[in-house]
Amino acid sequence: MPGPPVGVLIAVTRQVSPAMERCELTHLQRVPIDIGRARKQHGAYEQVLRALGCRVEALPEEPELPDSVFVEDTAIVLDELAVITRPGAVSRRAETSSVARALARYRKLVRIEAPGTLDGGDVLRVGRALYVGVSGRSNRGAIEQLSALLPPLGYRVQPVAVHGCLHLKTAVTRITDEALLINPRWVDRRSFAGMHFIEVDEAEPFGANALAIGNRAIYPASHPRTAERLRRYGIRVHALDMSETEKAEGGVSCCSLVFAA
Ligand code: GLY
Repeated sequence: MPGPPVGVLIAVTRQVSPAMERCELTHLQRVPIDIGRARKQHGAYEQVLRALGCRVEALPEEPELPDSVFVEDTAIVLDELAVITRPGAVSRRAETSSVARALARYRKLVRIEAPGTLDGGDVLRVGRALYVGVSGRSNRGAIEQLSALLPPLGYRVQPVAVHGCLHLKTAVTRITDEALLINPRWVDRRSFAGMHFIEVDEAEPFGANALAIGNRAIYPASHPRTAERLRRYGIRVHALDMSETEKAEGGVSCCSLVFAA
């Protein structure tokens, strides 16, 4: 199936922090993280982004910000502007300033203001619809701000309840504008009217996070059964070992902000 036309794509990434072992954890037990291995895996991820046509803009590491590799949480980049978030975890708030500086070259910036909190991992864009997870990180105050800002630009903002996982995009990600990859135990598929669903394999509950670019998807090697379901749907899967960022409760979509220049 043809994907959307892909022009010049930018992928903002950030090197793994040497402090990643002190990352936020909500649903996972803390286990040792091999920073050297995490960096190699992140380098391979950036290489696949390049192979998929992205110009990778890697931000310098943030030695004091354990979760800073997860740049997706710091911004929502739309065609018209970028929304700089106010992450729900206080330890992550300082991650936004460097991302804002990088994005200011491409987009007008607006910001989520207190008491709103929003993680980009809770925002799923499908066409002109923005589904926003109401989670432990993202609150109604932020959704109200998005609902005031974005409908005049032609976006529909829809809150979605999410439970049992960190972010909405832990539970569901876009594969095409018609199809979502979903773990229906963590989010109700009725929230996404008219969509086709590819369900994760029951043995792979964390398998709903993919990063789709055109008809390809960057996807963790740890979920081979769900990867096969994506292949059967016509998606070319680029399977990557993401073991270390998985220990930090991060998925493949979390490690970049991909947008048309
Ligand atoms: N460790 C990822 C997060 O909690 O934001």
